[in-house]
Amino acid sequence: MKALLLILLVCEAIFANITVKDSIVREATAVYHKFHEMMSKNVKNKISQEGIYKAAEFCANESYKKIEEFNTTLANNVSIKRVSLNNRNPNSYPKDDEKKILEAFDLIEKSDAYLPSEIVQMNEAGDYKIYFPSTMSSKSCKSCHGAKKGVNEEVYNLFKSKYPNDKAFDFVSGQVRGAVVITVKQK
Ligand code: HEC
Repeated sequence: MKALLLILLVCEAIFANITVKDSIVREATAVYHKFHEMMSKNVKNKISQEGIYKAAEFCANESYKKIEEFNTTLANNVSIKRVSLNNRNPNSYPKDDEKKILEAFDLIEKSDAYLPSEIVQMNEAGDYKIYFPSTMSSKSCKSCHGAKKGVNEEVYNLFKSKYPNDKAFDFVSGQVRGAVVITVKQK
């Protein structure tokens, strides 16, 4: 009887844990979709209406602010950012715990395995970080992150002057460019 009770308690604990994690992932995924839609709509509209140079100016001068603005719409314990091991914006370089997950994405990619839609990490404080891989999913990414010689000269010069340590060129279609990280602090 005691053994059965113990099993039930363990099951309950496991179940409760899964539910917390699952609901956090669900919440983060909804935020991610909204964010992704907002960013890609902005860039796509700029490209189709004003051309690649204006879109590049938007990405260089406004996209970081847009992310900060988007953050203000989220619950106090939730935040979003973009990170990359080959970053363009110096602020987008990952922290140590984040580097490991980005390396994991690269390893999965090199292993010809399918990328997961997200990886969930829990830090020492018990906060969750949900990583959504950002891949070179459309042709347009290449206009600004592809081989240097294929990038419009004005766009290249704009990036060169704004980001002297730019590492975000020479990516190929499908490659992981970085990740969107959503942090959910446990209240
Ligand atoms: C019109 C140019 C342009 C296009 C198109 C573009 N990007 Fe970027 N991207 C930039 C610029 C400029 C930055 C740096 C923004 C900043 O200062 O935060 C950037 C930053 C990023 C970052 C954040 C990390 C870093 O390097 O600073 C990721 C991730 C990223 N881009 C992925 C993509 C993906 C994936 C696509 C295609 C779906 C894409 N980008 C399309 C110009 C572009």
